[in-house]
Amino acid sequence: MAGTGTTHLRDGDPNVLVRVEDMVVEFPIGGGTVHAVSGVSFDIVEGETLGIVGESGCGKSTTARAVIQMPRPTSGSVRFRGTDLTELGNEDLRKVRPDLQMIFQDPISSLNPRRTVHEIIAEGLRVWGDRGRWSADKIDELMEAVGIDPRYGERKPHQFSGGQCQRISIARALVLDPKVIICDEPVSALDVSVQAQILNLLQDMKARYGVSLVFISHDLSVIKNISDRVMVMYMGKVCEVAGADDLFARPTHHYTRALMSAIPGSRSVVDEEMVEGELPSAIDPPPGCRFNTRCPAATDVCRTDEPQIQALGGDHYVACHHPVIETDVTVTT
Ligand SMILES: Nc1ncnc2c1ncn2[C@@H]1O[C@H](COP(=O)(O)OP(=O)(O)OP(=O)(O)O)[C@@H](O)[C@H]1O
Ligand code: SF4
Ligand SMILES: [Mg+2]
Repeated sequence: MAGTGTTHLRDGDPNVLVRVEDMVVEFPIGGGTVHAVSGVSFDIVEGETLGIVGESGCGKSTTARAVIQMPRPTSGSVRFRGTDLTELGNEDLRKVRPDLQMIFQDPISSLNPRRTVHEIIAEGLRVWGDRGRWSADKIDELMEAVGIDPRYGERKPHQFSGGQCQRISIARALVLDPKVIICDEPVSALDVSVQAQILNLLQDMKARYGVSLVFISHDLSVIKNISDRVMVMYMGKVCEVAGADDLFARPTHHYTRALMSAIPGSRSVVDEEMVEGELPSAIDPPPGCRFNTRCPAATDVCRTDEPQIQALGGDHYVACHHPVIETDVTVTT
C-alpha cells in the first residue's frame, strides 16, 4: 500500500522524541481486513503538543496505541529517541514503557475500582520503581499538583467525579516522569466546564514537568486550544499537518475545511460541506484519495491516484491533488 509521504517529518530537529514512519495497522477479521491506519507518519518534538483530529473511526486511537505497541503495527517504524520500538522484544519494550504514558476517555472505568486513589497513583512506582522526581512519600505532593486534596487519598474512584478521576489519571501518568503522554479523547466524556479545567491542568503539567503531549480529539475547537501542531486524519490517512494557528487560518485540505465548517457556532468563512454519504468501509477503502467519495472537489485523478503529502511553505503540509490555497480566513470558535 502506498504511503502518503514523509515530507512533513522534522528529521533535522535534534529535539524529535518520537518519529513514526509509514505506520500501517490492520486487523484481520472474518472474511477481510480492517485498514485502520494506512501509512501514517508523524513526529513529536520535545515540549510540543501534537493534536490528532478526525471523525470517529478514522484511526486516531489505533494510531496512538500502536505508538506504544499495543497493538504492534503491521508495518512501519516507531522510533523513540532513535530506537525503533517495533524491533524491540517485549523485555526491552518494557523498559521504554514508563516514558510513554496514556490517558483515556473514560476516567472512571480506567481506574481500578478496588484500589484507593493513593494506591492507584503509586502503582507505577511499585511496578517500575522510582524514576526520578516522584517517590512513594511524594504522592501527596503530586495529588496537590493535579488538584486533588491529599486527604482523600484513601478514597476509591467511585467517590470522585469524572473530572476528578481524570485528574487522578493524570497523576498516575505523571508519577513515572514520562517524556510523552498520549491523551485519547481525555475530555470527551466530561461536562464542558470541567473540560476547560482538565485542558488547563494538562497545559500546566506539560509546562511544569516538561512532557510532550499527543492530544486526540474529534472536536476541532478543543484541538485548536491545546495544540501546537495539528494532524488531520481521514480513514487511516494523514490529510493535513500544520501549526495550529496556520491550520485554522489557512485550511487547505477539503476534509479539514469541511470539519471546520461543521464546528457548531463557528463564524467560519470556510463554507465547504462534505457531500452527503456514508463513511466508506475501512474493510474496503476507496482507491486514490480515500476522501474522494465525499469531497466536493474530487476529480478523476482523485479516484485513481493517492495524493502524496506536499509542503506548502512554512510548517504546513497537505495530501491533496487540489488543495485550496487562499489568503487568511477567519475561524472563530
Ligand atoms: N481490535 C480491532 N479489531 C478490528 N477493528 C478494529 C479494532 N480496533 C479498531 N478497529 C477499527 O479500526 C478503525 C479505526 O478505529 P479507531 O478506534 O482507531 O478510530 P478512532 O478514530 O479512535 O475513532 P473514535 O473517534 O470513535 O474513537 C475503525 O474502523 C475500527 O472499527
Ligand atoms: S485529493 Fe481530491 S478527493 Fe482528495 S481531498 Fe483533494 S480534491 Fe478532494
Ligand atoms: Mg478513539
